[in-house]
Amino acid sequence: VTGGDRPAGIVDAVTSSPAATRALAAELATLARPGDTVLLAGDLGAGKTTFAQGFAAGLGVEGPVTSPTFTLVRPYRCGPAGLDIGVRTLVHADVYRLDHLQEVVDLALVELVEDAAVALVEWGDVAAPVLGADALVVRIERGEDDDERRIELVPGASWAGRAGELARRLAPWARAVPGTGRP
Ligand SMILES: Nc1ncnc2c1ncn2[C@@H]1O[C@H](COP(=O)(O)OP(=O)(O)O)[C@@H](O)[C@H]1O
Ligand SMILES: [Mg+2]
Repeated sequence: VTGGDRPAGIVDAVTSSPAATRALAAELATLARPGDTVLLAGDLGAGKTTFAQGFAAGLGVEGPVTSPTFTLVRPYRCGPAGLDIGVRTLVHADVYRLDHLQEVVDLALVELVEDAAVALVEWGDVAAPVLGADALVVRIERGEDDDERRIELVPGASWAGRAGELARRLAPWARAVPGTGRP
């Protein structure tokens, strides 16, 4: 989100390695609740799957988390870290073609409702109006050097009450954005 009228609660972060992106995502995951949707936006190679790996680790998922491309939606069983916050399943999805969007939404929604899940949807495009209103939108962009990524987190309606906590937990990766007066 750019321009002067940025919604409240946006967190601007920066990471300098894949490990740092995973650590940020793992920290974020501890704020998740069953039924949440997190949208990961960014170009190919931005770091969406890397982010998903860290998020999964934060929910105690064991075993490798790979790109769900061509499988559309892949469920993972959470470990104790997820179960402690009531999240049993992580649903990892990839909307790599727009005509698959509804399919992904339908598949993910079933799990969200029936299995105390959190959905993490990789989205290669700029905007996701269908899913975006209530989701936490995480936008990842390349930074100035090869391993730098700028990560913008925009909390949707269901995240509004968690926005303060979100900013506090992600403070280690906070990035100053000119003109916003933050952090
Ligand atoms: N700070 C960083 N955060 C995430 N990935 C990074 C970072 N720096 C370099 N990378 C590299 O960028 C690539 C991101 O790939 P991936 O996570 O599969 O992206 P996407 O799912 O968006 O296509 C990986 O090769 C990763 O090692
Ligand atoms: Mg990916």
